[in-house]
Amino acid sequence: MEIEQKEQLYEGKAKKVFATNDPDCLIVDYKDDATAFNGVKRGQIAGKGVVNNKMSNYLMGLLEKEGVETHFVKELSERRTLVKNVKIVPIEVIMRNIVAGSLSKRTGLEEGAIPAMPVFEMYYKSDELGDPMINSDHALAFGWATEEELKQIYDTAHKINAILKEFFAGVGVDLVDFKLEFGRYKGRIILADEISPDTCRFWDSKTKEKLDKDRFRRDMGGVEDAYMEMMRRIGLK
Ligand code: TMP
Repeated sequence: MEIEQKEQLYEGKAKKVFATNDPDCLIVDYKDDATAFNGVKRGQIAGKGVVNNKMSNYLMGLLEKEGVETHFVKELSERRTLVKNVKIVPIEVIMRNIVAGSLSKRTGLEEGAIPAMPVFEMYYKSDELGDPMINSDHALAFGWATEEELKQIYDTAHKINAILKEFFAGVGVDLVDFKLEFGRYKGRIILADEISPDTCRFWDSKTKEKLDKDRFRRDMGGVEDAYMEMMRRIGLK
């Protein structure tokens, strides 16, 4: 079936989502807009939409090869991708291999400290509330996910972490932490949203230079260069 883009369903902070002539598929269109601190800080990162689209698709392809089902269907253009029409689970999962960001703030542990095991966290997906941290009891008690779904999300997040950590180590990058979102699709839980320098912390393995959105969040400069460097490391143009 020839895919046709239909009406815009939603515009988020970094992406637009369109319906298509196939009810099982949506088109995501990546923008250069960047926000931080729940939309309080706003700006643009030139070329970011292209980087995030291509990188996310590449990484989801890699995960698919390792048996992780994702929403990725087909890259349509530099910024647009056909994805499966999932119902997003209202939980943001964060996996952490190295202490940074809000974990450092919450615990007082120094950025760069290495936990004894990867740390799995969940946040309730709500812009109004600023994505508060939750635990599995909250998710079950308030019906955000079932016990079976939570187990699958936990196991899949750890599996994704192991695959991505090894992949990035191979290109000289420490995968510090990252955010995942899952969706329900035809009775299954599959990986959705994006995996990009917006949603991951990447540090150069040797110099520990930041190669991700923290350069924007922290006004460090060199934001576009960092995104391009990550493209180069992965071997994408
Ligand atoms: P944090 O240290 O601020 O909790 O962020 C952990 C990781 O999650 C980091 O790689 C950035 C990513 N992240 C998002 O993708 N979206 C968000 O809204 C936040 C707060 C973090």
